Amino acid sequence: MKHEPSYLEIFLTKLAFFFYGRSIYQAFAALLPLDGGERVLDFGCGMGTVAYYTAKKLTHGQLTCLDISERWLNACRKTLRPYGNVDFLLWEPPVLAEESFDLIYCHFVLHDIAEGELERVIPELVKSLKSGGVLVFREPLKETEKISVIKRLIGQSRLGLKDSRITDIPLMGNALESVYVKE
Ligand SMILES: C[S@@+](CC[C@H](N)C(=O)[O-])C[C@H]1O[C@@H](n2cnc3c(N)ncnc32)[C@H](O)[C@@H]1O
Repeated sequence: MKHEPSYLEIFLTKLAFFFYGRSIYQAFAALLPLDGGERVLDFGCGMGTVAYYTAKKLTHGQLTCLDISERWLNACRKTLRPYGNVDFLLWEPPVLAEESFDLIYCHFVLHDIAEGELERVIPELVKSLKSGGVLVFREPLKETEKISVIKRLIGQSRLGLKDSRITDIPLMGNALESVYVKE
């Protein structure tokens, strides 16, 4: 469901980015298995917290920042202003080109999406991954029911689990980080 953030929400996220950018977002971007030339999708980019660090790693690649919210996407454009290797996508209608990304990541996004919508979103993400492409998500561990739904839907697709771990994130508590590879 579409939700436009309040200006207070954007301001608080900017504060978190300023004070915890390295320990929360850069640490996640650092874990992404990238060589620098990939086509990458940041699904639910928000103000570009992770994208800011991912774009730096893509020295000869391309990053697509996608969000359902126009206000978040505008904030993301500002955050990513220093980079020339980024494009922006407002996800309406939710259609992605087939086999177009080497890596897709979702950082604290999927748990916010209703089960019925996830049934549409996850197959769409899988479809847009190239063969051998990687899907990474980090979601709050306390969202146990939603995590079960996410795992079930991913399990029904052509993705194999490569790695999974629980990490303690500043401000956010324990999170599940999982890495899947498309057959
Ligand atoms: C909690 S924020 C996380 C933002 C960013 N990934 C971060 O970690 O700072 C969740 C983001 O997902 C976006 N979102 C929610 N549902 C979505 C959907 N169905 N498609 C695309 N983006 C969505 C929201 O607009 C919001 O920007």
